[in-house]
Amino acid sequence: MEDLSVVILAAGQGTRMKSSVPKVLHRIAGRPMIHWVLDAAEGLSPGRIVVVVGHGGHEVAKEVSGRASIVWQGEQRGTGHAVLTAREAIGASFRDVLILCGDTPLLETSVLQDLVTTHRARGNHLSFYSFILDEPARYGRVVRSSDGSVERIAEYKDLTDVEREIKEVNSGVYVAGLPFIWELLGEVGDDNAAGEIYLTDIVALARKKGLRVEALLARDARCFLGVNDRTELAAAEAAAREKILRKLALSGVTVVDPASTYVDYGVSVGPDTVIYPFSFLRGRTVIGAGCSIGPGTEVVDSTVEDGAIIRFSVVESSRIGPMVTVGPFSHIRPGTVLETGVRVGNFAEVKNSRVGAGSKIPHHSYVGDATIGEEVNLGAGTVIVNFDGKQKHPTVIGDRAFIGCNSNLVAPVTIGKGAYVAAGSTITEDVPEDSLAIARERQVVKEGWVKLRNR
Ligand code: UD1
Ligand code: CA
Repeated sequence: MEDLSVVILAAGQGTRMKSSVPKVLHRIAGRPMIHWVLDAAEGLSPGRIVVVVGHGGHEVAKEVSGRASIVWQGEQRGTGHAVLTAREAIGASFRDVLILCGDTPLLETSVLQDLVTTHRARGNHLSFYSFILDEPARYGRVVRSSDGSVERIAEYKDLTDVEREIKEVNSGVYVAGLPFIWELLGEVGDDNAAGEIYLTDIVALARKKGLRVEALLARDARCFLGVNDRTELAAAEAAAREKILRKLALSGVTVVDPASTYVDYGVSVGPDTVIYPFSFLRGRTVIGAGCSIGPGTEVVDSTVEDGAIIRFSVVESSRIGPMVTVGPFSHIRPGTVLETGVRVGNFAEVKNSRVGAGSKIPHHSYVGDATIGEEVNLGAGTVIVNFDGKQKHPTVIGDRAFIGCNSNLVAPVTIGKGAYVAAGSTITEDVPEDSLAIARERQVVKEGWVKLRNR
């Protein structure tokens, strides 16, 4: 739709959010709200997209840069004023302007497409979506004449008792012909309870001028949810989450309990992966095929390759190779790479380390800043002592090395290939290949000591 210009209003303060974060930057499924609206708009391939910013405008502008042109509304004098401010940016060479609010994140391209198509087919000057709500809350009410045609929109703050009962509300999604809209907006005043220049006033003005105005009653109201406070934010989050999980399920992922599964926008999950309850897949996470994630697992900004199993664990900014098992109760911290078939589990923490294929860190260990070869075994309670109180130091463990239980490897230190470290050792010097290092007190046995003591 090259002949369509889109403007998204996002300058308002969002007072009811009670937040220092601009409303349109609050996240839904991990992604600022404004991006969801931009997606819906971009789907139309319009000639232009303009975002009106004001409150917290620098942050909003930074977030949307590259996706839209920015217009500043210095003083937020209402939705009509916001559109007027964008007049030049919207441009004069387009057939219509589609007006959206930055706080309606569930909008979908197909719904917008239908509005524009109907608007054009009917030769309307102004068209907008309305929908029915049993509890119309603070939405603007659509007032119709006795013949059923739209007369005007009445804003919440100005409602009479009779109007308050109207259940048909304004969605905030409009398409208007150019340049008619400028003529209409030029006449809108601010004589209302809010003292604002209401965009919604153009409906009554258009009617008065005998222009064609139509409110399209949408059957499915869900996509028009306006987020004005945090209860609505939670409702939008729930709806977005449902959409994401449904898409995953239809692409071959088993989501055992959608009610307790949280997957951010943009996370990808391969087929035949099973996600168990209380799992969170966040940020730039990519999960392969045939994996088992959860229960009780959080994966953030990480790649998990085919066939990996992660239970009751947290994984951050790391790469989990194919067929790896993590957990129960492990913490894989940023910068970690676990190669094919590695096992980490039972209260183990790994940070900024590379662990070679087939190696095991199966019980109660801390591994930090280490490079571990293939087929290495770290016994229960192995601790890499990477920090001397001032600096972090590296540790290198060669292929097939065997570290006995409850050993400390004091970095910087290198354990050669195939070397053994005796249980309970505190290793402070390098261990050459294929040798055994024992670094602990020799055992002393005092025979009959108890009887002597009790005498
Ligand atoms: C608005 C509509 C209402 C409709 C509802 C649908 C008006 C006057 N009312 O009400 O009829 O039912 O949306 O969700 O339009 N904004 C600016 N500059 C301003 C004021 C607002 O850019 O000066 C932006 C806001 O950031 C927001 C959008 O416009 O994204 C809508 O403003 P908001 O204050 O949320 O209007 P509502 O009260 O929800
Ligand atoms: Ca709103």
